[in-house]
Amino acid sequence: MFMQTVMLLAVERGLATCAQEYWARYPKTLAEILNLPEDHMVFSGMALGYADETAPINNWRSARDPFEVWGELRGWD
Ligand SMILES: Cc1cc2nc3c(=O)[nH]c(=O)nc-3n(C[C@H](O)[C@H](O)[C@H](O)COP(=O)(O)O)c2cc1C
Repeated sequence: MFMQTVMLLAVERGLATCAQEYWARYPKTLAEILNLPEDHMVFSGMALGYADETAPINNWRSARDPFEVWGELRGWD
């Protein structure tokens, strides 16, 4: 939820992001580079920067099912 907040704020300021949990597969390397205390671990990384709008991949949009397919709100009548 914190990452989502940062990501929304980034978009508002013209920046692009990509959450990358895959970084967590390299705990030793990350701990070394980030100088983490022993009782800390990285949950997820996040790319942050200006999107290259000319790159085809940055204009690709994945399909989303409508909310009715995967969610339901009860008690809001
Ligand atoms: C917390 C979090 C971690 C993520 N980690 C990865 C990852 O390690 N590798 C990956 O391919 N996508 C990861 N994703 C998904 C991408 O950030 C992104 O949502 C996905 O590529 C689809 O793009 P779209 O949401 O713009 O359709 C992660 C998403 C979240 C919310």
